[in-house]
Amino acid sequence: MPDQEKRIEESEIFRNAPMEEPARQYYFIEQARKLVKKKSEELGRNLFFCCVTFGCQMNARDSEKLEGILEAAGFIKGEEDRADLVIYNTCTVRENANLKVYGRLGYLHSLKKKNPHMRIGLCGCMMQESQVVEKIRKSYPFVDLIFGTHNIFKFAELLIRRMESDNMVVDIWEGTDQIVEDLPTDRKYAFKSGINIMFGCNNFCSYCIVPYVRGRERSRNPKDIIREIEKLVSDGVVEVMLLGQNVNSYGKNLDEPVTFAQLLQEIEKIPGLKRIRFMTSHPKDLSDELIQVMKSSDKICHHLHLPLQSGSSRILKEMNRRYTKEDYLALTKKIRQAVPDISLTTDIIVGFPGETEEDFQETLDVIRKVRFDSAFTFIYSKRTGTPAAAMENQVPEEVVKDRFSRLLKEVQQISEERTSRFQGTVQEVLAEEIDSHKEGLLTGRMSQNILVHFPGTKEEIGKLLPVSLDECRGFYYMGSRI
Ligand code: SAH
Ligand code: SF4
Ligand code: F3S
Repeated sequence: MPDQEKRIEESEIFRNAPMEEPARQYYFIEQARKLVKKKSEELGRNLFFCCVTFGCQMNARDSEKLEGILEAAGFIKGEEDRADLVIYNTCTVRENANLKVYGRLGYLHSLKKKNPHMRIGLCGCMMQESQVVEKIRKSYPFVDLIFGTHNIFKFAELLIRRMESDNMVVDIWEGTDQIVEDLPTDRKYAFKSGINIMFGCNNFCSYCIVPYVRGRERSRNPKDIIREIEKLVSDGVVEVMLLGQNVNSYGKNLDEPVTFAQLLQEIEKIPGLKRIRFMTSHPKDLSDELIQVMKSSDKICHHLHLPLQSGSSRILKEMNRRYTKEDYLALTKKIRQAVPDISLTTDIIVGFPGETEEDFQETLDVIRKVRFDSAFTFIYSKRTGTPAAAMENQVPEEVVKDRFSRLLKEVQQISEERTSRFQGTVQEVLAEEIDSHKEGLLTGRMSQNILVHFPGTKEEIGKLLPVSLDECRGFYYMGSRI
C-alpha cells in the first residue's frame, strides 16, 4: 500500500469507523456531511453533484443509490457544467458505450481546467476492465476516483478517502458475494421504481461482457425484496420493475431456494401495489409455472421482454444461448396462448461472427412469425475477453450494415402494425410525466408498455387512468379522456 494510502487508513476518521455494514457507510456519509458543510461555508454556496448514467436499468438503479448517498451527504443535484462532483456510471456492453465515455471525459477536462476543485468519479461496468483503468490512469490523470460494480455500496467511504488524499483513488474488486441492504436511494420517479432482485450473470453468452464485469449470479433474499417494495408502496410507488440479467433463474442459489414465479406471487400480495414488471427474461429458463402465474395475475403487466439474439439455431449454439429457433417459437406461442393481449419485445444482434445470409434469413423468419411489438436491434460489437472476440470469421462491416438496415425496416413495419391493434379501445394508462412536446398533455404507459399521450394535469402523474386510444402514430398513441 502506498504511504499516503496507509496514512489515510490510519487516520482518525478511518480508525473510528465501524466495521459492519451498512453502519460503516452511514458513518462515512456523516463524515462527508461535515466536510461538505465546511466547504459550503467556505464557498458561501451549496455544493452540487451531477451523476450521468450510461447503459441499462441496472445501472440506472445503481445511480439512484449513488445519488441517495450524495444527497444524504448534503450535496445538491445540479447541472454537469457547474457541478463540484461529477460521476459517470459507465457501461461497456458495446464498443460505442465506451467511446461515449472517453469523448465526454475530454469535455470534463475542459470544465475542470476552469474549475480546479471539481472532482470526477468513474464507476460502473467499464471500470471492471483492467485495460480501461490503465488507459484512464495514463491518459486521463485528472480523474479523481475510480470504483467498480462490486463495491458501489462503499461509495461514501471512497469519497472520504479521495477527500483525504491528494491522488487518484482506485478501488476495483474482482467479485463479491456481499449484498449490502438499506443504504439511501434517491428515486427518479415518485410513483415507480426499479428493484434489484439479483445481481450478476452466470450465462456467459459468447458475445457478452456482462458476466465478466458484473460477476456471478447472486439473488437477494425474498424477505428483503418484499420489505423494500412494501416500503416503496407506503412511499407512493404503484409500479415496480424487478431487475436482473436473467430473472427466470432467480432464487436458485439461495439457502432456501425460491422460484421467480413464487417470488412474483408474494409480491402480488402487497396491498397498494398496482403493477409489476420485470426484466430480463432468458428464454432457456422461462418456466410453465411463470406463464401460469402471469396468466392468473392481476398486477403483472402484459409485457414480456424476451431477447432472441438470433433466429438461427446454428448461431444460437455459437452464442451459447442454449435454445433453438424452434424452442423460441414454441415458447412465444405458449405465452401468447396464455396471455393473448401480451406485448412481446426482444433484442437482436446482427453480424455475430460466422453469420451467413441464410442465418440472417432465419432471424427475419422468426421476426415475421412472432411479430414482436418492438425490438432493440444491435450490430455485433467485439468485446475483448469474450469467446466470440477470438472467433476468426468476423463479418465484414458493409455486410452487417446492409443486414442491419433490412432488419430495422422489417422490425419497424411489424411494430407499427402490432401497436395499432388497440386502436379505438379504452385502456388503463399510468400517467408518468408532462408531455415534453405539447402543453396540456401527459405521457403515460399501458400495461403492454405502449406510450400514450393524452390530456391531463401534473396532479394526475402517478395515477392509473382510463384513456381512449384514438389515433395510433407508429409506436405510440394519441388518446383522449373518457
Ligand atoms: N441479460 C440480458 C441482456 C443484457 S445486455 C439478456 O440476456 O437478455 C442487453 C443486450 O445487449 C443483449 O440482449 C444483446 O442483444 C446486446 N448485446 C450484448 N452484448 C453485445 C455485443 N457484444 N454486441 C452487440 N450487442 C450486444
Ligand atoms: Fe449477457 Fe447472456 Fe448474461 Fe444476458 S444472459 S447478461 S446476454 S451473458
Ligand atoms: Fe452495460 Fe453493465 Fe448494463 S455493461 S448493459 S451497464 S450491466
